[in-house]
Amino acid sequence: MKIIVTGGAGFIGSNFIFYERKKHPEDEILCVDSLTYAGNLSTLEPVMNDSEFKFFKLDIRDRDGIYKLFENEKPDIVVNFAAESHVDRSIENPTIFLETNIIGTSVLMDACRKYGIKRYHQVSTDEVYGDLPLDRPDLFFHEDTPIHTSSPYSTSKASADLLVMAYHRTYGLPVTLSRCSNNYGPYQFPEKLIPLMIANALADKPLPVYGEGKNVRDWLYVEDHCKAIDLIIRNAKDGETYNIGGHNEMANIDIVKLICDYLDKPYSLIEHVEDRKGHDQRYAIDPTKIHNDLGWLPETAFADGIKKTIQWYLDNKKWWQDIISGDYMNYYEKMYSHRKVLD
Ligand code: NAD
Ligand code: DAU
Repeated sequence: MKIIVTGGAGFIGSNFIFYERKKHPEDEILCVDSLTYAGNLSTLEPVMNDSEFKFFKLDIRDRDGIYKLFENEKPDIVVNFAAESHVDRSIENPTIFLETNIIGTSVLMDACRKYGIKRYHQVSTDEVYGDLPLDRPDLFFHEDTPIHTSSPYSTSKASADLLVMAYHRTYGLPVTLSRCSNNYGPYQFPEKLIPLMIANALADKPLPVYGEGKNVRDWLYVEDHCKAIDLIIRNAKDGETYNIGGHNEMANIDIVKLICDYLDKPYSLIEHVEDRKGHDQRYAIDPTKIHNDLGWLPETAFADGIKKTIQWYLDNKKWWQDIISGDYMNYYEKMYSHRKVLD
């Protein structure tokens, strides 16, 4: 089997490539990534010399380039991770989110139609369902929960989801779709909550918690997400959507305190800052369907996963310090220096 993995130089895509190389070494993996600020070729070093792995620096919006790749390589499966993925950036500049996340998805699916494919899989997010209230712990996102987005990021992802389903119904494209909760683990770009707090805490810098820090996310160890996608692309029926999550809800402030505890840093580093615009309150996935249909269950408990993740950032300082010493400094200054500190 020949599998195109787009966005494979990013956080989840790279972890998925490592998972596939181990689990299905007979399959060929072609990684397509344009190496935006979030893509890092050094992440792929462990597989770069494998005979069953090839890397293509290519933008998913580049129709000619993508068609040529499909014509030459004739892939069996496409798994689309490539996206602009950070909510805060989407609030600053929505346009690139629409271009990559919607137009890019349509280019990939057009290539699938033109050259034929066994399966196109769209990696989506629980954010397409909007948010749940903090005072209703009985509510969860199900696959048929209405789309109700909050940010330009989630809106671009929801638009892509609708397009994927439209290509299935209109053209009979063999698609599947998954919507996962917040991932954490190795190789996550330090703009996201957990690695940002680890990096700042290690440098004794303030830990910027948006608002009161009561917003709840449902955290899943990245390898469990990869395992779910692997099951879907190989076993699910065409046209199916699956929610992926591990029933592990935590308030942001509790995550940040936990990171302080592991790193032996004082809570006095925590700084409550001006809230994210349109900030979603709570995400919570009901993963019953993927469990019943495909036997998926998360394997890594949060207590183990967060320990492994913090240890990974301690053991791989060069990876993230190279990142935060570059353009990231300008990003951090732009996003955080004007944020009002709350009492
Ligand atoms: P990421 O930002 O770490 O990686 C995105 C990758 O896509 C980068 O390597 C980047 O270079 C590449 N890319 C961006 N634009 C591209 C383009 N036009 N052409 C080719 N490559 C391009 O993102 P991530 O956190 O790994 O998320 C991967 C996917 O999973 C996204 O689709 C995201 O919406 C979804 N998702 C993420 C989470 C999460 O918690 N991180 C949860 C659920 C779903
Ligand atoms: O739910 C899945 C989504 O999870 C994915 O689709 C997105 O790609 C991914 O980025 C993530 O979105 P979030 O907005 O939930 O993740 P982020 O790490 O940006 O923020 C997590 C929570 O922490 C959120 O409530 C905002 C808060 N936060 C974040 C940052 C970066 C802070 O309080 N301070 C911060 O500095």
